[in-house]
Amino acid sequence: MFKDCWALAVDAQEATSQSCQVSFKLKKKMSGAATGCEAEGDRVDLAEQSLLNKMIRRCLVRNRNQVEVLQADPTSPLYSVRTFEELRLKPELLKGVYEMGFNRPSRIQENALPMMLAQPAQNLIAQSQSGTGKTAAFSLAMLSHVNTANKWTQCLCIAPTYELALQIGQVIEQMGKFLPDVKLAYAVRGNRMVRGVKLQEHIVIGTPGTVLDWCTKYKLIDPKRITMFVLDEADVMIATQGHRDQSIRIQRQLSNECQMLLFSATFEDSVWTFAEQLVPDPNIIRLKRDEETLDTIKQFYVLCGDKEEKFTALCDLYGSLTVAQAMIFCHTRRMAAWLAASLTEEGHQVALLSGEMTVEQRAAVIERFRSGKEKVLVTTNVCSRGIDVEQVTLVVNFDLPVNMDGSADNETYLHRIGRTGRFGKRGFAVNMVDSKRSMDIINQIEMHFNRKIKKLDTGNSEEMETLLN
Ligand SMILES: Nc1ncnc2c1ncn2[C@@H]1O[C@H](COP(=O)(O)OP(=O)(O)OP(=O)(O)O)[C@@H](O)[C@H]1O
Ligand SMILES: [Mg+2]
Repeated sequence: MFKDCWALAVDAQEATSQSCQVSFKLKKKMSGAATGCEAEGDRVDLAEQSLLNKMIRRCLVRNRNQVEVLQADPTSPLYSVRTFEELRLKPELLKGVYEMGFNRPSRIQENALPMMLAQPAQNLIAQSQSGTGKTAAFSLAMLSHVNTANKWTQCLCIAPTYELALQIGQVIEQMGKFLPDVKLAYAVRGNRMVRGVKLQEHIVIGTPGTVLDWCTKYKLIDPKRITMFVLDEADVMIATQGHRDQSIRIQRQLSNECQMLLFSATFEDSVWTFAEQLVPDPNIIRLKRDEETLDTIKQFYVLCGDKEEKFTALCDLYGSLTVAQAMIFCHTRRMAAWLAASLTEEGHQVALLSGEMTVEQRAAVIERFRSGKEKVLVTTNVCSRGIDVEQVTLVVNFDLPVNMDGSADNETYLHRIGRTGRFGKRGFAVNMVDSKRSMDIINQIEMHFNRKIKKLDTGNSEEMETLLN
């Protein structure tokens, strides 16, 4: 059915071909390949490493039955009263879902799917915690919605980053495996197309700039024929600081009957208000503030004096970082580059992903990380949302997320730490604090989510053992 999109290398030459899909050189993807149990950092103190190994392994083992336990716990976001059969999915989709190893829907899937599939079509604004299966929810809706007899684009899904668009496409490909007639195209940078020839792909997934070009400049999609429009990470897509202009320009071209579905783990109050103005008569699934954070992600901060001390603390943590996989977030591309270079200089093996890299480089880095070849990814906010790498056990905020005015960026914080603790797994988030200002930010974040962020002394392995358990 679909051409595999996620691959180690992008063939730039092929990308210029007239194919309607991203032309990646195919190397079968290896998602979930890493077991995450072998330690690599041979420069790290062995006693410390063995202790951390033990702790993380225990977490991984403990996790095995955790999803089932959580799915039976009414207070968990993974809880559901219904089965996938009861959600009345097409048999081919059920097959796809079960082949992906899903046994039961999560709460958001169980609640949102009936609304998304209802006739006549209903709009939806939905919030659900990070890692609770929003992608599968709207992917199932799109795959159910498509009428393959119609050879034009019917579902349009936009996401804020290139990596995320590809990841969503990958989920749709897997889920739609038994629906070979449903076709998908990727409206992402680097996928060059011939002007004026309308696409026959039923589903288009992409980033806002390219999608807008495909609708207006290249006229590959007739926006009036789109009947389902999905915004993933919807708050950032419609926030003034985000992709608002492009998203709104796309949305304005759609017909009034087009069904609109907005998903995110966060919706700042002002963005929520705006979303309600944008989407006519929506169904609403909204979390209470204290439900937004996950109990399964433990949060810490480490007190440091300056950048160098943060670096030392990070090196102390490195033993635990390499046990499974870790993502380290920096505020700027420059800081990320400095950190990656400094860690490499110390003999650590890390990958770097930031916005200025070419799409080929970005695809290669994320795929290497996903397949476990690199255990640590140093990045900027470009990877803060949506990226789903199951084995990520640790998130480090080397720089805390701040707004333009220097206040805590609570939404970005939640998305960043949500790269761990996916679908019931346990995770750790460690924040580096290097000034009174950054301590204030931690306090603001604690107050916002009403959650304690505990102090961690990375130099004290005994204390680490107590706290991390
Ligand atoms: N019903 C299910 N049963 C088991 N695993 C599931 C189920 N639904 C989704 N998952 C898995 O949960 C993980 C997280 O899903 P997904 O990426 O859709 O989360 P999300 O809600 O979009 O999170 P974020 O807010 O971070 O984008 C994925 O690895 C996915 O395969
Ligand atoms: Mg998501």
